[in-house]
Amino acid sequence: MTRGVRNPVLIQTLCALAFFVGTAVAPVTPARGAQAKQNTLKPPLQPVPFSHRRHCEKNIPCVLCHQTAATGETAGLPGADVCMACHQSVATGAPSIRKLAAYARQHKPVPWLRIYRIQDFVFFSHKRHAGAKVACAACHGKVCKSDVLKLEVKLSMKFCIDCHKASKASLKCNACHTLSM
Ligand code: HEC
Ligand code: HEC
Ligand code: HEC
Ligand code: HEC
Ligand code: HEC
Repeated sequence: MTRGVRNPVLIQTLCALAFFVGTAVAPVTPARGAQAKQNTLKPPLQPVPFSHRRHCEKNIPCVLCHQTAATGETAGLPGADVCMACHQSVATGAPSIRKLAAYARQHKPVPWLRIYRIQDFVFFSHKRHAGAKVACAACHGKVCKSDVLKLEVKLSMKFCIDCHKASKASLKCNACHTLSM
């Protein structure tokens, strides 16, 4: 279920903080390098160029490619077979589609580069948010306007907490962090 906290220093920090502030929301000073695992605003160079804008225009639902965005903790990224369902007949001559076809033929996963990442000590669930009808755009910006996706929303603790306050969702430390004392 919930991911555990693996970093002992963090466990101590989290426990100490939880001890001092109880369940109240403390103004946690952001640690330097807290965003280390989150990419910068520069879009990564993907193995196959993919335009959300062009595919959104065809009214393809998000969950066709991000198959567990409504039902799982992670959203999932598509394999080449998902793309080839259409591209065995669409734009077959394009070099990018040939590359895609090769991944599918060899049953190799497409090495998509990740854009949104939260650190291991934070628990997140797509299912819970989809269930509460929180729009993808609230956390990922205007995906359907992008030809090249990049980080638009900084997923800081303040960002999560602000919406949780506004929507009366949980503010308990251990909703998002597992305190293994
Ligand atoms: C439901 C059908 C469908 C699926 C699934 C799909 N595509 Fe497409 N794709 C299209 C259509 C239709 C176009 C032409 C869009 C246009 O006319 O602008 C297109 C265009 C493209 C192009 C531009 C090709 C060119 O002309 O240079 C690329 C690259 C591409 N898709 C990549 C992908 C990738 C990668 C995936 C899987 C992650 C994918 N597509 C999944 C329907 C699909
Ligand atoms: C046809 C397949 C397809 C559809 C439909 C699609 N996506 Fe994607 N999505 C991809 C691919 C491929 C990537 C990885 C490449 C990239 O970042 O552009 C991706 C990446 C993403 C990412 C970044 C993931 C990360 O690395 O952190 C987000 C967020 C995202 N999509 C949201 C959406 C939303 C919201 C919709 C619906 C409005 C949507 N996608 C529809 C194929 C798709
Ligand atoms: C409340 C905020 C929030 C909402 C709403 C949200 N996401 Fe995410 N998304 C995240 C976070 C946080 C991550 C990074 C998770 C991690 O690092 O494990 C993420 C990661 C992703 C990824 C990267 C791959 C993966 O398996 O996680 C994709 C793709 C994605 N989201 C698509 C979507 C789509 C599509 C929707 C709408 C159906 C959506 N997200 C709604 C916060 C959100
Ligand atoms: C735009 C609003 C919004 C944002 C941003 C948001 N959430 Fe939520 N979150 C919600 C709502 C609404 C619920 C209540 C869902 C329910 O009741 O099932 C929720 C529920 C949760 C839960 C389940 C809590 C429980 O009661 O067990 C977790 C965990 C969670 N969010 C983590 C996060 C994290 C981590 C972030 C930041 C990366 C985040 N959320 C950002 C709206 C948001
Ligand atoms: C709604 C989800 C959510 C809740 C509730 C929450 N946090 Fe966080 N917390 C996060 C996220 C997301 C990060 C990672 C921020 C980043 O990477 O910038 C984080 C990071 C932290 C950090 C690391 C330092 C930092 O600021 O980056 C500490 C310590 C922390 N939280 C303590 C707490 C304590 C104590 C509580 C209860 C008062 C709490 N958190 C409640 C989501 C949450």
